[in-house]
Amino acid sequence: MGRRSAALSIVLALLSYYIWIGGDAAPPYPSPTASRQDPAAAAHGSTLDPRQLTALQSMGFPTVGDPCAAPSPRDNATACDDDAPFRHLVSLRLANCSPDLDLTTTALRALSTLRSLAFLRCPIPAPRHLPSGLVASLRSFSCAASLRRLTGVWLSRFQNLTDLTVIGVPVAASGPAIILSHMRHLRSASIASTNLSGAVPHHWHALDLVHLNLSSNHLEGPVPSSISVLGSLQTLDLSSNALTGTLPDSIGDLAALKSASFAHNSLSGPIPVSMSQLTLLVHLDLSSNQFNGSIPRSLSKLKGLKFLNLENNNFQGVLPFDASFLQKFEVFKVGGNSNLCYNHTLLSHKLKLGIVPCDKYGLPVSPPPDRSTRADTSDYSDNDGSDDGGGDRKSGGGGHHRPSKLVLGVAIGLSCFVFLVIFLVCLSKLCG
Ligand SMILES: *[C@@H]1O[C@H](CO)[C@@H](O)[C@H](O)[C@H]1NC(C)=O
Ligand SMILES: *[C@@H]1O[C@H](CO)[C@@H](O)[C@H](O)[C@H]1NC(C)=O
Ligand SMILES: *[C@@H]1O[C@H](CO)[C@@H](O)[C@H](O)[C@H]1NC(C)=O
Ligand SMILES: *[C@@H]1O[C@H](CO)[C@@H](O)[C@H](O)[C@H]1NC(C)=O
Ligand SMILES: *[C@@H]1O[C@H](CO)[C@@H](O)[C@H](O)[C@H]1NC(C)=O
Ligand SMILES: *[C@@H]1O[C@H](CO)[C@@H](O)[C@H](O)[C@H]1NC(C)=O
Repeated sequence: MGRRSAALSIVLALLSYYIWIGGDAAPPYPSPTASRQDPAAAAHGSTLDPRQLTALQSMGFPTVGDPCAAPSPRDNATACDDDAPFRHLVSLRLANCSPDLDLTTTALRALSTLRSLAFLRCPIPAPRHLPSGLVASLRSFSCAASLRRLTGVWLSRFQNLTDLTVIGVPVAASGPAIILSHMRHLRSASIASTNLSGAVPHHWHALDLVHLNLSSNHLEGPVPSSISVLGSLQTLDLSSNALTGTLPDSIGDLAALKSASFAHNSLSGPIPVSMSQLTLLVHLDLSSNQFNGSIPRSLSKLKGLKFLNLENNNFQGVLPFDASFLQKFEVFKVGGNSNLCYNHTLLSHKLKLGIVPCDKYGLPVSPPPDRSTRADTSDYSDNDGSDDGGGDRKSGGGGHHRPSKLVLGVAIGLSCFVFLVIFLVCLSKLCG
């Protein structure tokens, strides 16, 4: 009996340790970079190619010890291959550089094994000369708030990229096409907050594009119907530009699309009915444009939709959704459409949609109540804690994460219990 209770307390101690570790969300296995770097390097004792070490040093990169073996200094990251006799850099991220940092051609030439190069808050001039070896080897290039200013011609040289990210740096170019048209292997392209002008490309060359983000630029003209050739596209963000015209019907051919934003442009006309073919759509933002016409009832076919923002447009007529469709949204906004109204026999005023009820002819009743002018009242996710908010809704947007945590907790608890029981049974068998 004494032994058994001792065993029990050990089990309980182990159990609480296990739960404590689990709460930390730390992965129970070593991080992949650590495991990849250490054993192989230790085995044949290879260190970083001295030319590359010199290059890093010339860039003021802290190289106390071997940059491949030692954990990278906090903001600057390196990753190496396992070649012998010398290892080579495959990935380099320069963060928070001094403005005096000098990227010499010699240093860049020595780095032509890099597959990934990233600049983060490095306010240095872009290197004028890009060694062709580096250009050929790079698969991923990222520049965030770095390199002061770029040109489309400079960026267009990276023709082997699969990932291009340029954020928060002015890019001078006649349009995105000059940058994108030579990058046939691109899967992810973000050129956002760059003050880029021109038009959305009409000809697409990277047909495997999965993410396209051209938001917060000065792009003009229409969304071309040729965009439908991007059959793998999952994310499309064209928000905060100066786009005009109507959305093409061909948008319904983007069968992989999960998230689309055209917010903050000057787009007009109706929502294409073909939009309801986008069955994987989770996030759709058409807010702050001049879209008009009635909202297609067929949108309620989009069962996975969790975020729909149609506010600040000129939509008209009766909102064609019922309470059960609206219930599953995390964000649903239709405010700021003065000719749009809801059927009060189908939808409660407690939903605070930010639009007025319809009269029996399907027209907005007048005068509109005060709250129709307050945009924030139409946001479901804000309703959670308000006094009379919620209404027909059973769970607010904020409640979305709580049940999953609860489920996780119960699952962990149950598995611990089962583990405990099995352990005790085994123990009693052993002791008996
Ligand atoms: C990152 O590297 C730059 C030079 O490339 C250096 O000036 C800076 O101090 C480094 N930052 C950290 C946090 O080590
Ligand atoms: C792209 O990579 C291939 C080899 O992987 C290379 O032959 C080619 O020159 C590279 N293209 C450019 C534009 O650097
Ligand atoms: C874009 O231009 C505006 C003024 O036109 C400027 O304030 C802003 O800093 C520019 N953005 C970038 C990333 O250069
Ligand atoms: C597009 O890039 C901007 C950065 O300027 C970012 O805020 C936005 O979330 C990105 N869009 C998507 C869909 O990731
Ligand atoms: C939508 O606006 C356009 C002008 O931008 C107009 O020609 C069209 O008739 C409007 N459609 C509806 C249904 O009001
Ligand atoms: C509102 O819904 C009811 C019930 O479906 C229907 O009878 C009525 O015609 C609708 N009113 C308007 C204005 O659409």
